[in-house]
Amino acid sequence: MASNLQLFLRHLAQTSDSPYLLEVEKAEGIYIYAADGKKYIDLVSGVSVSGMGHGNPKILQAVRDQLDLYMHLHVYGELIQKPQVDLAVRLSEILPDTLDCTYFVNSGSEAIEGALKLARRFTGRHRTIAFRNAYHGSTAGALSVQGGEEFKNAYRPLSPGVSFLDFNDFESLDQIDESIACVLLEPIQGEGGIILPENGFLELIRERCNRTGALMIFDEVQTAFGRTGSLFAFEHWNVIPDVLVLAKALGGGMPLGAFIASSEMMKVLSHDPVLGHITTFGGHPVSCAAGLASLEMLLTEDLGREAARKEQIFRNCLVHPMIKELRGMGLYFAVELGDAEKVKKFMKLSIENGIISDSFLFHDTAFRISPPLTISPEQIKEVCAQLKSLLDLIK
Ligand SMILES: Cc1ncc(COP(=O)(O)O)c(C=O)c1O
Repeated sequence: MASNLQLFLRHLAQTSDSPYLLEVEKAEGIYIYAADGKKYIDLVSGVSVSGMGHGNPKILQAVRDQLDLYMHLHVYGELIQKPQVDLAVRLSEILPDTLDCTYFVNSGSEAIEGALKLARRFTGRHRTIAFRNAYHGSTAGALSVQGGEEFKNAYRPLSPGVSFLDFNDFESLDQIDESIACVLLEPIQGEGGIILPENGFLELIRERCNRTGALMIFDEVQTAFGRTGSLFAFEHWNVIPDVLVLAKALGGGMPLGAFIASSEMMKVLSHDPVLGHITTFGGHPVSCAAGLASLEMLLTEDLGREAARKEQIFRNCLVHPMIKELRGMGLYFAVELGDAEKVKKFMKLSIENGIISDSFLFHDTAFRISPPLTISPEQIKEVCAQLKSLLDLIK
């Protein structure tokens, strides 16, 4: 009989020739248990999704409660569904006043599509400024604003009118003028290797957008919900975007994305023509219920601020001659080895030794640490010791 590994390779479309090939039995807290009984520490959280840990009982209970009432009923926007309303209200309570209206979708890519469409409709312009080494998703529109050339070239032509600037290049911001519909960026570049904005960079973009009427869109798909040590990354710089894009941790482990703006701005999607964006499963009630339970736990247990404290434990413990820099904020790190070959060797060793880490799409000399926010100080110390002993093995 064919094994699940053989069936996976035969019947599931593959995304690369080097998947982890780890067959999962179950997952709990920061651990993933393989079908062969081996236990893995998850240092990636499904790429910053499972902030509250795997199998979180509060999220599971919220999912069960909602399943008992209803699952999908109708396309997004037609029926009043309490889980959507509750989550949208809660988001508006924790966000600045200008971000009071949420459009729920399915994923980060779809939220980017919606945000780009909103910017076109609201400004009546179509040109977009995006940044090199930015990742915003894989659908055609999101791919058009992605900053990694090799991923785009096979799929051209893509959406026109996108100009790419270098992140932290202050001078290039002169290109934000009255022809620009929006400036789209991650406040901290994720797949670029966790690159922080230099002092004044986000502020200058905000100022130029204010002056020219271009919308400032923050993609916080990876950085939101406590990941960087504050609820949202933009709070570190106190620069408020016109449109905020969320996904990943938003659904507490269920698929959910959103773009959030002012009610005034969002109104343009509902007339001339109506149905400016439509989505069948957007804001699925079970996803919204899970997302709300996850958000309440994050707030009640102050896990964002805890992430900032836990950052210091990582910084104190993860010191090794091979580590050139521990770049990032909160529980969102690039461990910079400065050498792509060493990263490849580390990735192989780590999975063999029960640690799930990840590389970055546009930065091959570092590996990623983005564990569940619920990781305990003891677990951090333990995993740092393990990471250091693996680094010792790399020549
Ligand atoms: C910053 C950022 N934006 C957008 C996306 C796209 O999200 P999704 O994979 O849910 O479409 C991702 C996914 O990794 C991301 O990291």
